[in-house]
Amino acid sequence: MELELKNWYKILSPRTVVLISTIDAQGKSNAAPYSFVMPISCQPAMIGFASAPKHHTLFNIRQTKEFIINIPSEGIIDQVWQCAKPYPQGVSEIKETGLTEEKARKVSIPRIGECLGWFECRCEFEKEIGDHVMVVGHVLHAEVRDEWWKDDKYLAISAKPLLHIGGAEFAIPGWATEPVEQ
Ligand SMILES: Cc1cc2nc3c(=O)[nH]c(=O)nc-3n(C[C@H](O)[C@H](O)[C@H](O)COP(=O)(O)O)c2cc1C
Repeated sequence: MELELKNWYKILSPRTVVLISTIDAQGKSNAAPYSFVMPISCQPAMIGFASAPKHHTLFNIRQTKEFIINIPSEGIIDQVWQCAKPYPQGVSEIKETGLTEEKARKVSIPRIGECLGWFECRCEFEKEIGDHVMVVGHVLHAEVRDEWWKDDKYLAISAKPLLHIGGAEFAIPGWATEPVEQ
């Protein structure tokens, strides 16, 4: 069936969910779930995400030029959902949801301890595109939990990254196909 264009992106799904952590100029932390996220360049490592213009995440990145992409797993789905609620500017979703702030390696933003992987980023530029603002960042440090990385491969099925179908519906990857014939 033909889709109404207001729904077009909904079949580009499920998408990996990330929690983007930032701080404001006063050092107050913030975290919000995002799924409009994509790798842009392998080397140098560049990542992009699209934000609604009014989000605190964007406001904070404009102040500090830094952010961390934290990759959550199924185990913290309730906290991820809670982080999407509209807390006032300066109130930390990380603290409110009981998640753990850990020191990062290359940026002054805290990373979220319960996540399975982290990209520490410096904002390179932003561009308004339609009703969102695309933020492009340089990945300065990338890390994954040891248990989810073996023989140069990401064990995505075991790691259970959270995927967003839409609204309040989520998925986790259930099985991998056999490698295709080469
Ligand atoms: C799973 C999920 C994915 C989301 N993805 C995006 C996204 O890609 N871009 C966006 O602007 N908002 C997205 N949102 C909405 C924001 O997380 C939400 O509006 C949040 O309150 C923004 O927080 P902030 O103002 O602290 O930045 C998403 C929400 C959920 C639950």
